[in-house]
Amino acid sequence: SWPVITVDGPGGAGKGTLSRMLAEHFGWHFLDSGALYRITGYACLQAGVDWADEPAVAEVARQLDTRFVMGADGEVGVLYAGRDVTAVIRSEEGGRGASVVAAQPSVREALLERQRDFRQAPGLIADGRDMGTVVFPDAPLKIFLTASAEERARRRYEQLRGKGESVSLPRLLEDIKERDARDSSRAIAPLVPARDAVVIDSTATPADAVFEAVLLEASR
Ligand code: C5P
Repeated sequence: SWPVITVDGPGGAGKGTLSRMLAEHFGWHFLDSGALYRITGYACLQAGVDWADEPAVAEVARQLDTRFVMGADGEVGVLYAGRDVTAVIRSEEGGRGASVVAAQPSVREALLERQRDFRQAPGLIADGRDMGTVVFPDAPLKIFLTASAEERARRRYEQLRGKGESVSLPRLLEDIKERDARDSSRAIAPLVPARDAVVIDSTATPADAVFEAVLLEASR
């Protein structure tokens, strides 16, 4: 089957940036698995389904009418029911919803095959939390990218400010720590590096140096 490089780690560690650089470099497909959980949370809001109602949320996840499209700027756009929901699902609220529905086993199960379907010629870069542990356990290269919570909050702050959103840094740091705790303590697919993952700490390492380090691993 086609090769996969998995890129897992906490939010804000730079997975998205690294994954896009790798996908472009190799000319491979790109799976943004977090977006699937974000769209599920969003679709629940649209359908009036409570995020805590696991069977109903899983049904929403199974039915998800979504598509990813490559924008001219190299950013991946997310369509839900034919509408562009990229900005809505990337909000802090979108992240919270994703994190809540992602803790439900039947929701993860409902999204499993959809994620594996992204593995197509000539290869795939898979960005998420459990790409190397659950979704693509046979991936030949697994990266676990991390950074301190303070640095991740700072990056998120810059990103949101760049978009003209007013946010508070302490509030972001609190959100990040809360989400870390929920993601790593949940019973299903907790956020932990795969046993065979290469762990990279990006706290003091710029994106292009992280990219070079991964290329080196890929050439081994
Ligand atoms: O990566 P992103 O911030 O878009 O992910 C949003 C949320 O979705 C995460 O906080 C996590 O709870 C969940 N998620 C997950 N498994 C993945 C990707 C995302 O549980 N593979």
